[in-house]
Amino acid sequence: MTGTTGQPRTAFITGGARGIGRAFAQALVADGTRVVLADIDETAAKQAAADLGAAAALGVACDTADEASVQRAVDEAAAHFGGLDILINNAGKHLMAWSRPVTEISTAGWREILDVNVLGIVNCARACRPHLRRSDAGAVLNISSVSGFAATDVYGITKLAVRGLTAALAKEFAPDGIRVNCLAPGPMDSESAMADLPEALLRDFIANKQLIQRQGRMADLVGAMRFFCGADSAFITGETLIVGGGHPLRV
Ligand SMILES: NC(=O)c1ccc[n+]([C@@H]2O[C@H](COP(=O)([O-])OP(=O)(O)OC[C@H]3O[C@@H](n4cnc5c(N)ncnc54)[C@H](O)[C@@H]3O)[C@@H](O)[C@H]2O)c1
Repeated sequence: MTGTTGQPRTAFITGGARGIGRAFAQALVADGTRVVLADIDETAAKQAAADLGAAAALGVACDTADEASVQRAVDEAAAHFGGLDILINNAGKHLMAWSRPVTEISTAGWREILDVNVLGIVNCARACRPHLRRSDAGAVLNISSVSGFAATDVYGITKLAVRGLTAALAKEFAPDGIRVNCLAPGPMDSESAMADLPEALLRDFIANKQLIQRQGRMADLVGAMRFFCGADSAFITGETLIVGGGHPLRV
């Protein structure tokens, strides 16, 4: 697929070194899109980029919580590929350590997760905006969670905030022709999720909450990612789509 002036599109993917971010990168490269794997784990980002091929992928060090680090990563990526068309705000702290009652996480802990899960998106959106506005295919995709629809723990509240940010950024970036949408996955089979989620909890979630009785796979997210990053969703912005096997059911 092409973006600015007929060039292949370029996507800046935070947390792209592994898990869902890496699965998105693989799918986009297969479509002819170039990818920037921006990750706090620079070694893993560079290795994942090398696996995808130097012509199609670049690995850069990026701590989304650190505005200066984000700016450096975005500058490097835009210079390398001659612009950016897509931002995927995927990096996040997640799972059991943060799925805790709100008064049981210290103020320092709250700041730590808010800095990554919420302000990280603001930092990346701000730094990428000048590049996305020059694209004829400018799109931002945020990653929330089904936890953001039943937000009674610390993690869920940060993912509720991601839904709010999606609407706010959609409004703010619309004059620049940049669309902003969001995916809210249920439990997926990324390595970190499978290592962290207690098996009994996962089994109970699938049996009693999901309508589709199987574990979500990262591949289940790829079609929705392609849709929101591509021309088929050209008239959609500010939306959050749940990819959760039927949970939570809404009318
Ligand atoms: N896996 C799931 O079941 C699931 C479900 C719902 C939502 N999500 C969300 O999807 C996203 C990805 O999940 P995953 O399971 O692939 O995670 P993961 O832990 O496998 O990968 C996350 C990546 O982000 C990187 N990262 C962490 N902090 C960073 C920072 N400050 N700056 C840059 N990179 C950073 C990590 O190094 C890692 O490579 C997260 O936002 C998560 O909350 C995941």
